Amino acid sequence: MAASSLLSLMFLISTLLLASSSLSVAPNPTTFTIPLSAIFTKNQPSDPIKTLNSLASSSLTRAHHLKHPKTKPPLTKTKVFSHSYGGYSISLNFGTPPQTISFILDTGSSPIWFPCTSQYICIDCHIDPSKIPLFIPKLSSSSKFIDCQNPNCARISSSNPSSKLCQGCNCSQACPYSFQYGIGSTLGLLLSETLDFPEKLFTNFLVGCSIISTQQPAGIAGFGRTPESLPSQLGLSKFSYYLISQRFNDTSESSDLTLYRGSSSDAKTPDLSYTPFRKNPVLNDSTFREFYYVDLRKVIVGSKSVNIPYKYLVPENNTNGSGGTIVDSGTTFTIMATPIFDAVATTFEAEMGNFSRASAAAEAFIGLNLCYNITGLKFEKIKFPKLTFEFMGGAKMELLVVNYFLPVDFGNSSFVCLTIMTDIILDLVEPAIILGNTQQQNFYVEFDLKNNRFGFRRQSCNKK
Ligand SMILES: *[C@@H]1O[C@H](CO)[C@@H](O)[C@H](O)[C@H]1NC(C)=O
Ligand SMILES: *[C@@H]1O[C@H](CO)[C@@H](O)[C@H](O)[C@H]1NC(C)=O
Ligand SMILES: *[C@@H]1O[C@H](CO)[C@@H](O)[C@H](O)[C@H]1NC(C)=O
Ligand SMILES: *[C@@H]1O[C@H](CO)[C@@H](O)[C@H](O)[C@H]1NC(C)=O
Ligand SMILES: *[C@@H]1O[C@H](CO)[C@@H](O)[C@H](O)[C@H]1NC(C)=O
Ligand SMILES: *[C@@H]1O[C@H](CO)[C@@H](O)[C@H](O)[C@H]1NC(C)=O
Ligand SMILES: *[C@@H]1O[C@H](CO)[C@@H](O)[C@H](O)[C@H]1NC(C)=O
Ligand SMILES: *[C@@H]1O[C@H](CO)[C@@H](O)[C@H](O)[C@H]1NC(C)=O
Repeated sequence: MAASSLLSLMFLISTLLLASSSLSVAPNPTTFTIPLSAIFTKNQPSDPIKTLNSLASSSLTRAHHLKHPKTKPPLTKTKVFSHSYGGYSISLNFGTPPQTISFILDTGSSPIWFPCTSQYICIDCHIDPSKIPLFIPKLSSSSKFIDCQNPNCARISSSNPSSKLCQGCNCSQACPYSFQYGIGSTLGLLLSETLDFPEKLFTNFLVGCSIISTQQPAGIAGFGRTPESLPSQLGLSKFSYYLISQRFNDTSESSDLTLYRGSSSDAKTPDLSYTPFRKNPVLNDSTFREFYYVDLRKVIVGSKSVNIPYKYLVPENNTNGSGGTIVDSGTTFTIMATPIFDAVATTFEAEMGNFSRASAAAEAFIGLNLCYNITGLKFEKIKFPKLTFEFMGGAKMELLVVNYFLPVDFGNSSFVCLTIMTDIILDLVEPAIILGNTQQQNFYVEFDLKNNRFGFRRQSCNKK
């Protein structure tokens, strides 16, 4: 579909949807807690290997995008690896009266948007359109479309390289945007709405009212570091979450996402290990600005510290800012640049000497890079080498085996596969390591924005 006809469609829809506003503000509490659920797309393949393979592919596709954000035009079809998505979702209430919409929690992006209008078009979504939860602006008295001349329009458009839609548009019409993700993309009009927590209403919250998307059946709540993100718009001092352990199938269990506002103290949360967020020196690039960089210093496998060249661990102060580690709730499996992965895999190979490596064909079929044949053994009984990430300041993240080895059965054989991946294309590009949500499961993590630090502790999050 041509951009111009999309725009006409969007403007047509926006004129049908406009409403006037009347707003109110409640008192000023400082914390809000939202349930956080593991999500798994509705139409996951019934074959678990296919599911796993598509999750692996999705992680890589997303990694390519996070590393090369500017290489894709809006609304191109990225490779269709199915949209199976081992992610986590939250529900938020927007509008007056409030409409409850679920979003994917994403610390690797900043915009927040929902499928909007009954005309929502979702390409390659393989989902019954009537099952897509929609926000309907005309049912809300607080919906206001942002026009092209509003400074917020330029801000959202300019911080998003693929959205040049406002250029040449000299108008008081609604502000169009497009956001590109590792998997899929979305296009719509910028809306000002009321975000409603039981404790407080936030008025004039900027949210994307999406009209057409590829492979994005649900909205995304960007928790990144740039001004359009949810934490920035709400002025959060910190947010924290647990990720419940998910075995990549549907679960009704949930845990908590907690948002903190106001001048919380600088005190550390008891039992948390902290490491500072680091800024990528390439500050003129807004895409890197939205990422949460942490200073991973060591990867320890068993008793051995993996030898990783420093240049991969620290974003370089050059024009491309390559290297460094980011924390991303929207990537399933941790992704490492190939030289780092190879060093980690070699160390695992040495420590797993008593197990036979799966064939290359089996690994390719499963979609993960390092698998062992454990036929005849019980996963729970196997003594795997420990995996520890050590961060600047000495904070150590000692992972549970389920954070990095996944049992996989196929044919008459049983395997375990490392849920850390690479791809030969992923060389020294930015960032070098994407810490995915599988590695964050069973941890309580805190993004302390005010004090610019990342905190974590191991914790069993599953509620019974
Ligand atoms: C936009 O509108 C202004 C004033 O209304 C006018 O001066 C300007 O030439 C217009 N620009 C374009 C590109 O149409
Ligand atoms: C999900 O997988 C886990 C582990 O394989 C299993 O115990 C659980 O019953 C599964 N849940 C559903 C809803 O299938
Ligand atoms: C990066 O380099 C520039 C100029 O070369 C310098 O001014 C700046 O302080 C450096 N930043 C960091 C974080 O090292
Ligand atoms: C940052 O700005 C410098 C100088 O203005 C430019 O050469 C460089 O390409 C920019 N970096 C990025 C990643 O856009
Ligand atoms: C392999 O098994 C042998 C015999 O059980 C044991 O002595 C050795 O430590 C094992 N090696 C590793 C790397 O676990
Ligand atoms: C895995 O190991 C078992 C037992 O050693 C063997 O019978 C089976 O063929 C192996 N599977 C594959 C796919 O290599
Ligand atoms: C699995 O084992 C059964 C019986 O032992 C055999 O009939 C079947 O062909 C085997 N399947 C594979 C994929 O090896
Ligand atoms: C990053 O910059 C360095 C030096 O400026 C250069 O050697 C390297 O090829 C660049 N990497 C990428 C992926 O652009």
